[in-house]
Amino acid sequence: MDVLVTRQMPGEALKRLAETCRVDVWREPYPLPREELIRRIRDKDALLCLLTDAIDAEVMDASGRLRIIANYAVGFDNIDRKAASERGITVTNTPGVLTDATADLAWALLFAAARRIVEADALVRRGDWRGWDPNLMLGCDIFGQTLGVIGTGRIGTAFALRAQGFDMQVLYTDEQPNRVLETRLGARRAPLGEVLANSDFISLHVPLTERTRHLIGPCELACMRPEAILINTSRGAVLDEQALALALDQGRIAAAGLDVFEREPQVHPELLKLPNVVLLPHIASATVHTRTGMADLAVENLLAFQRGDEPPHALRPDQPHP
Ligand code: GLV
Ligand code: GLV
Repeated sequence: MDVLVTRQMPGEALKRLAETCRVDVWREPYPLPREELIRRIRDKDALLCLLTDAIDAEVMDASGRLRIIANYAVGFDNIDRKAASERGITVTNTPGVLTDATADLAWALLFAAARRIVEADALVRRGDWRGWDPNLMLGCDIFGQTLGVIGTGRIGTAFALRAQGFDMQVLYTDEQPNRVLETRLGARRAPLGEVLANSDFISLHVPLTERTRHLIGPCELACMRPEAILINTSRGAVLDEQALALALDQGRIAAAGLDVFEREPQVHPELLKLPNVVLLPHIASATVHTRTGMADLAVENLLAFQRGDEPPHALRPDQPHP
C-alpha cells in the first residue's frame, strides 16, 4: 500500500508501517497545506491523518484509489463520512487509548478554573504577591458540589467516575442510561436543561455532529447558575464561543476551562481578554503514553486493512455522521 501520513508521530508505529508499506510522511511541524495534501494523495491507497486535516470529497477524489482513512484521533468530525461511504472508503479512529488522559485533563481544567490557578500563578510571577491575604484569589469549592456531565460515552464516564474522590453528586444527560455511573456513583440522568440548571460544574463530552453543533448557546448559558463553571474538552463548535464570552464577561456564569475552539488555532478575541477562562491548546490526549498509543492504534488499523482483515476500529455505518 502507498500511505500518506500527514505528520510525524511519537513512538515506533510509523517505522512498523514502513516495513510493509511505502510511506510518505509530511515532516513539517505545521499542518499539511490543503493544496499539498491534494497533490500528495494522488497516488495513495491509504491516508493517516490528523483532526486538523479536513478530508472531504475533493480530497478523496484527488486520489482515485484511496481505500482507507485512518484518523489519528477519536473524534472524526474532520472527515466527510458520507462521502467516504459513498466511495467505499473505510474510516477508522483511535478510541479507548485516550480516554483516561482526556478525562484527567478535563479535571485539570476544572481545578484550574475553580481555584484560579492560572491567574494566581501569573500574580506570583508578576511580583504582585504581598503576602497571605484573607481575600486573595478566592475561588469555589469542588468537594461536595454537583457535577453535570453532558454525554457519557467512554470519556464522559471516565471523567464522572473521578468525582467519587470528591464526594460529588453527579447529574448526567445522555440518550442512554449509564448503568456504571448509576450503580457506582448514584448518578442521576436528567434532561439537558435540568443538568445545566442544577450543576456547579458542567463538562461537555459529546462528539461534534449536526445535532450537537452549538448545543450550548445563549439559552443554555442562561439556564446555568451564576456560580457555574463550564469545561469543554470535546469539540469547540459544541459551544457558541461568542455567547460564552458574553456570559463570562457579564458574570452570568463564574468561569470556564476550554481545551478546544471553534476555529483552532484561533481563539475568540473576547475570550483572550477574560481572566475567568482557562485556555489550553487542544492537549487533552497529550501525554507521551497516550499519543504513542494513538499512533500504534492508527497503524494497527492500516495494517489490518492491508492484510484483508476488518480494522479493529473501523467506524460502523450507524455511528453518527457529523
Ligand atoms: C482529540 O481531540 C481526538 O479526537 O482524539
Ligand atoms: C492556610 O495556609 C491556613 O493555614 O489557613
